[in-house]
Amino acid sequence: MKFFIDTANLAQIKEAHELGILDGVTTNPSLMAKEGIKGHEAVMNHYKAICEMVDGDISAEVIATDFDGIVAEGKALAALHPNIVVKVPMIKDGVKAIKWFTDNGIRTNCTLVFSAGQAILCAKAGAAYVSPFIGRIDDSGWDGVQLIEQISHIYTVQGFKTEILAASIRNPNHIIRCAEAGADVCTCPLDSILGLLKHPLTDIGLAKFLEDAKKTQ
Ligand code: G3P
Repeated sequence: MKFFIDTANLAQIKEAHELGILDGVTTNPSLMAKEGIKGHEAVMNHYKAICEMVDGDISAEVIATDFDGIVAEGKALAALHPNIVVKVPMIKDGVKAIKWFTDNGIRTNCTLVFSAGQAILCAKAGAAYVSPFIGRIDDSGWDGVQLIEQISHIYTVQGFKTEILAASIRNPNHIIRCAEAGADVCTCPLDSILGLLKHPLTDIGLAKFLEDAKKTQ
């Protein structure tokens, strides 16, 4: 399973990258706004800065919701760097645009996916990635990981090539359960990635080893 970081914060991207386990980055308009990135040029420059930091797929989201607008924005984003993956919302014109991008050699990540039916449409349109939002499904009283299992089963049975990118990850357990459920990628906040490191027995064991090591010196 690949690890992407879900942020537009350059310091957090750097920290995850330095761990040596980072395969890519996903962003969205909310994450860009959180970093105070404002104006078209600043947004484009920020994507370029991320591409220069991480040698992996970088998802950059379109704002347009009509076919022509999505295609125009996606073409401009894809022209920024070969690693840019155009993130397109799961709407009717989005599906049409994903098919257009597929036919024209531009890779896409279909976002805001909350059902298996939507995931089938993403795959049919040739999206490189489908992004089911695990945490938001959990928030509404359903089980997000169950959706990952369902999509994984459908894609295997049908031989679809679209990769399952589990998004809206909220904690380390989400990452573990998505790995079990067959996600190809987890895009996570830095805290959830670092949370995988933690176990009290590791800390207790290390303290004991270090204490005993003093006796050997
Ligand atoms: O990037 C899309 C997704 O990961 C958003 O997560 O936490 O806003 O539901 P969240």
